[in-house]
Amino acid sequence: MQHLINDINFLDGPSTDEVKVLPESETGKHRKLYIESYGCQMNFSDSEIVASILQGEGFDTTTDVNQADVVLLNTCSIREKAEQTVRNRLTQINAIKTKKPGLLVGVLGCMAERLKTNLLEEEKIVDLVAGPDAYRDLPKLISRVDEGERAVNTFLSREETYADINPVRLNSNGVTAFISIMRGCDNMCSFCVVPFTRGRERSRDPESIVNEARSLFENGYREVTLLGQNVDSYKWSVEENNKALLERKGISHVVNFAQLLERVAQVHPDLRVRFSTSHPKDITDEVLCTMARHENICKYIHLPVQSGNSRILELMNRGYTREWYLEKINRIREILGTDCGLSSDMITGFCSETESEHEDTLSLMDEVVFDFSYMFYYSERPGTLAARKLADDVPLEIKKRRLNEIIARQNNHSLIRNRQEVGKTHLVLIEGPSKRSADYLQGRNPANKVVVFPKENFNKGQYVQVQVYDCTAATLFGRVVT
Ligand code: SAH
Ligand code: SF4
Ligand code: F3S
Repeated sequence: MQHLINDINFLDGPSTDEVKVLPESETGKHRKLYIESYGCQMNFSDSEIVASILQGEGFDTTTDVNQADVVLLNTCSIREKAEQTVRNRLTQINAIKTKKPGLLVGVLGCMAERLKTNLLEEEKIVDLVAGPDAYRDLPKLISRVDEGERAVNTFLSREETYADINPVRLNSNGVTAFISIMRGCDNMCSFCVVPFTRGRERSRDPESIVNEARSLFENGYREVTLLGQNVDSYKWSVEENNKALLERKGISHVVNFAQLLERVAQVHPDLRVRFSTSHPKDITDEVLCTMARHENICKYIHLPVQSGNSRILELMNRGYTREWYLEKINRIREILGTDCGLSSDMITGFCSETESEHEDTLSLMDEVVFDFSYMFYYSERPGTLAARKLADDVPLEIKKRRLNEIIARQNNHSLIRNRQEVGKTHLVLIEGPSKRSADYLQGRNPANKVVVFPKENFNKGQYVQVQVYDCTAATLFGRVVT
């Protein structure tokens, strides 16, 4: 069921263009806040930080945009289509504002950062623009709008990690949660707008991460996903961060990603740990061996390849070749076994990509056989290296045809990989009712595959052994055997 049409993904991952709305909460005060989030998991996570900051100022959240006094859209710029979706949504919100002139409309996130004050001019209904590092300033920005001004803060910080803010987990199933471990990206892949919208890479204090994981576990959560654009370059050091913390006990001078992963895994053996996204040029044996050592670190790696051709990878500035990537896959399978789930992101029709270079992507997919992939055709983003230096010269029909070919190939591979699981027993963490029927529950196995089984007397948050008897390309079906 992996009907990917360029921008639609079917599992939560680093770049979905699904929309999420923060649900109801009551602070007992009167102003109603509505937040809608677009883009990647980092944005959904940030909306929980925004809700936390504004709840502290007496805002209640509402799921009904018509009830709202303040509407915030947390936006994505990754592809042109993502920005177009937000523009269309702003037009709809304008219709509400016409009937309710006091409505405050704000744009947050990556599009706010990219377009800055232009957004006020282009979209006349926008009162407030706040970039990803400016959320602490939101109460002040809102007051400024209340006083009749329009308010903008798109300052990008080198330090902000919101480490001390407790995100409100309003949209949660109570079992799985995301923890932001770093912000920004220093990689400069030539197609990518993220370094411009999110700023320089910075890592969050490991102690605050471990504390957040512990508190989630104590509150009934059983899985955390550590989030960053490139988790393998997580690096926290007293010197690079805050010298005042030098004396703090239990913190060594430098903590890398493998060490952080280990600390989070040690919170409790019943707390599953996942992470996203890994970068093929940076993932280390130390990370793989840490995964192997801890049963509760899920054997699943999202390792975006983008293209199977080394010339294109070079133009993309990805820092690895086809051979390097395939070698990493071998290493993963050597250390973690062939059951380890593997997924990827792919871009078709990047600048000057020839037909045979496109074939290289298909052949790399054949060599690896990914469990699933997020697939896109190239969308030129203003200001990126590729936009400045390379011609976006593959015609749209060809980009789309190539995309359809890789989607079809991936569907075959997902089915092949899932069929290998039929007959086996999987440890599943129950996340809640199945999407199709209330008589069934669903959860995921360590390799991140969705498993559906009859409800019986089981509850979300429990671990069960499920024997799989059937599958589609997207789902495994089974029965609990313990
Ligand atoms: N940090 C992650 C990816 C973040 S963006 C990483 O390095 O893998 C998520 C995905 O969106 C990317 O992996 C890429 O496949 C896709 N993407 C990014 N920019 C794009 C563009 N200009 N056009 C099409 N797809 C793009
Ligand atoms: Fe973008 Fe590359 Fe950074 Fe990922 S690693 S966010 S693709 S620049
Ligand atoms: Fe995420 Fe989109 Fe920004 S993918 S980092 S919200 S550009």
